[in-house]
Amino acid sequence: MSSERSAPDGFSESAKDYDAAVRHNIAGSERLVMSLPAGDWSRVLDVGCGTGFSAAAMLRRFPVESLVGVDPAEGMLEVFTEKLAEFPEVDISLRAEDVMEMGVDADSFDAVISAMALHWFPDKPGAIVAMARPLRPGGVMGILTAGSGGEEAWQRVLVAAGAAPEWTGWFDQNHRDVDEIADDLRAAGLEPLDVWMERRRRVTPPDEFMARTRAVAAHLLGNPPGGFSEVDQRIEAGLHAASGPDGFEYDYCKLYAVATKRDG
Ligand SMILES: C[S@@+](CC[C@H](N)C(=O)[O-])C[C@H]1O[C@@H](n2cnc3c(N)ncnc32)[C@H](O)[C@@H]1O
Repeated sequence: MSSERSAPDGFSESAKDYDAAVRHNIAGSERLVMSLPAGDWSRVLDVGCGTGFSAAAMLRRFPVESLVGVDPAEGMLEVFTEKLAEFPEVDISLRAEDVMEMGVDADSFDAVISAMALHWFPDKPGAIVAMARPLRPGGVMGILTAGSGGEEAWQRVLVAAGAAPEWTGWFDQNHRDVDEIADDLRAAGLEPLDVWMERRRRVTPPDEFMARTRAVAAHLLGNPPGGFSEVDQRIEAGLHAASGPDGFEYDYCKLYAVATKRDG
């Protein structure tokens, strides 16, 4: 059942709960935007924009004039749309499109950002090429994605709960390391300026961890409307069993990349 739904389908379903469940993603977006070099980044493209808090971080830091947000999950774009009144000075348009089929012009943006979305894109090198195309020469790209390593404790919970191989095998397939993303950036005609991995040890109450899982992996849980699938319930029980008095302890790696597009 879950294999029939794509990641954007899942994000559409969980969109209303997303912002409350992913405080670490919000903090990561802030760090990504704070890491961009100063510059005239007045036309911004946000790929996999979701509910818009990476875009909002961009608008707070730079005098942005226009922003295009791209995301195939219409439910996420609906939540973003509810926030547009907060930015009356900025020309914001949202497009329900896949990264590989963005209807945006080449060389037409000063900055392209993508936060916590690349790991959901099936073709990562191709997606980086697709995101580099609309960036003007001399423009800046900022990517935040899930990094290699970490999440071993979480993977053990998933395996013990009998999660489908598409989920237990997801980590190896979709996590990236510093060298891999630097190579992909160069292959797309970009020059890496600052690429780094952070590994964080977190202790999170199991119910909070489960809420975050339901917000970011709805398509893998396959929950019916208003209820929970069997695998959801087994995972929830496994998280509680694996938790200590302060919560579930796990490591999470985030990979950040800041790059510029070469002239010519
Ligand atoms: C974890 S959310 C991140 C949203 C936002 N950038 C943030 O930092 O909170 C990942 C987003 O990527 C989007 N996404 C997944 N696959 C995509 C694709 N093929 N093309 C564009 N966006 C995609 C999802 O719909 C979802 O909104």
